[in-house]
Amino acid sequence: MSIPERLMRTVCRVGSRVVYGSAEEADWIYEKIQHPSSYLLVARNLLNWKLRRPQVHGVVALMVEAAFDCNLKCSYCHRTKIPAHLQERPRLIDWETFCMVVDQAPASVETVQLCGMGEPTLHPRLCDMIEHIALRGRRPSIFTNGTLLRGELLERLAKTPLAVLNVSVEPDAQTCREFRGIELDTIRRNIRQFLAVKRPTTDVKVRMVAHPGNAELVARAAEEWRSEVQGVKIGNVFNMKEGHHTNFTCMEPWGSNLFVFTDGKISPCAMDMFKDLVIGDIHEQSFDEIIHSRAYFDILEKFSRGEPPSLCASCSEVRLEGVPSLLPRSSNRPKQ
Ligand SMILES: C[S@@+](CC[C@H](N)C(=O)[O-])C[C@H]1O[C@@H](n2cnc3c(N)ncnc32)[C@H](O)[C@@H]1O
Ligand code: SF4
Repeated sequence: MSIPERLMRTVCRVGSRVVYGSAEEADWIYEKIQHPSSYLLVARNLLNWKLRRPQVHGVVALMVEAAFDCNLKCSYCHRTKIPAHLQERPRLIDWETFCMVVDQAPASVETVQLCGMGEPTLHPRLCDMIEHIALRGRRPSIFTNGTLLRGELLERLAKTPLAVLNVSVEPDAQTCREFRGIELDTIRRNIRQFLAVKRPTTDVKVRMVAHPGNAELVARAAEEWRSEVQGVKIGNVFNMKEGHHTNFTCMEPWGSNLFVFTDGKISPCAMDMFKDLVIGDIHEQSFDEIIHSRAYFDILEKFSRGEPPSLCASCSEVRLEGVPSLLPRSSNRPKQ
């Protein structure tokens, strides 16, 4: 590991401790941002969150929903629970919309992640997308269930300038069958085949979701994977029924990321599966206009007052460490 990388990873660990209370998010942060200017931008946005100022100064990552379609029906995935009227968005992002997003991404955007509520490997132009992101000077990464990572797709994907291939796995064969309806051995074989042919600059990471009662199983599986891949990410299962609080200021809308749905609509929250926080549409506005829009301001303002959309009150991912509202509030208004 080079000295600058070591230094940046240390910064990520410190940042993770300060923001999340543990160093566990450090690798997630490093995957998205590696330039000192990005850390400064994120720090300025998070200071606004701490001070409950309804303003962000820019974004460092875009999460683009390449596909809303999926070949699996994992039992804990919210995709299957989205009401019919919200399922109307395109199954795949179209090439023009995708290019509009990447070509117009603000200069501060370092990373474009192809993720979202579906399976990106279903997109026939996935490899072109990765090439295009890299061509525009941004770091491409994807999140996949790994089922289609074989044959021609595997060979083509391995040749792209992909920075990180994140593959979702379950901790053991039984959980994999139960939650995902697939064989863990198949995914393990696909990952190993990809590892054998990938570029040295592509990292492979596995992502596991811990459920109540299986934390030890997940920790053991993570240990085993660590010797094979370049990273292991563990997240807690997320739900929308925890019925949290009535007065809170979640950090996510200040998180310096924007989420792009397959239809080009944009939200500041990756968990916004019901589209409650849409602040713009790339077909109608530039990113700069969206970041400084009345819609974004209004959402931040509502959060600042501790009055977010009602659905957010039941989100288990909510970040509650807001500071007392006695601290000064900014009078910044959006551009009209
Ligand atoms: C929504 S999937 C989309 C990408 C791809 N289809 C996959 O499975 O990796 C992205 C990640 O979210 C995780 N996920 C799905 N439902 C979740 C939930 N209820 N709580 C926490 N993570 C979840 C998946 O395990 C996966 O790692
Ligand atoms: S593969 Fe991914 S998107 Fe598809 S159902 Fe499973 S977690 Fe959801």
